[in-house]
Amino acid sequence: MRKYRLVECVSKEKLERCLDELSSRINRDYEGKDLVLIGILKGAFIFMADLARRLSSPVTLDFVRLSSYGDQTETCGNVRITKDIEIPVKGCNVLVVEDIVDTGITLNWYLEHLRRTYCPESLRVCALIDKHERRQVDVPLDYVGMRMESGFIVGYGLDFSENHRNLPAIHEVVFEDTE
Ligand code: PRP
Repeated sequence: MRKYRLVECVSKEKLERCLDELSSRINRDYEGKDLVLIGILKGAFIFMADLARRLSSPVTLDFVRLSSYGDQTETCGNVRITKDIEIPVKGCNVLVVEDIVDTGITLNWYLEHLRRTYCPESLRVCALIDKHERRQVDVPLDYVGMRMESGFIVGYGLDFSENHRNLPAIHEVVFEDTE
């Protein structure tokens, strides 16, 4: 196991401000409408919980678990559903909630799948982090919390080998052998 340390790069306070801004926009756009949130597990679970509590529309929630990375750090492009949504979303206003968009492969695949399989009335995406460095698919993001060029980050739902998801702030992983 390579040695690394964590350096905080997005504070709890900045995350809260970001959540306030995102939820205000979503509340304006969906005023008077019902909304279904679909969180992509596991990474989105904390972001989705904090976002949902700021929304004023009547909201129903569900989760999907997608597998695209396996044990690798880069997506293999072969996306599959390992836990599907359980509520019917046909004809609903759906907002997919994602923690981070990296290559864009996972989200792009899932949006196409949702459209084809469930025919929602509307389909938008809210991503906490839009990370550009490795983008391969130009997937449209309707609500973005913050943009990042590069860096390997953990905390606030994001993991490194399943660790650090519970950190309240976002941290960059700095490997000691690359310093
Ligand atoms: C991460 C993240 C996104 C996906 C983005 O999930 O939560 O779902 O990767 O990658 P992409 O844009 O390159 O396709 P991961 O597969 O690591 O699972 P996790 O959420 O359980 O950590």
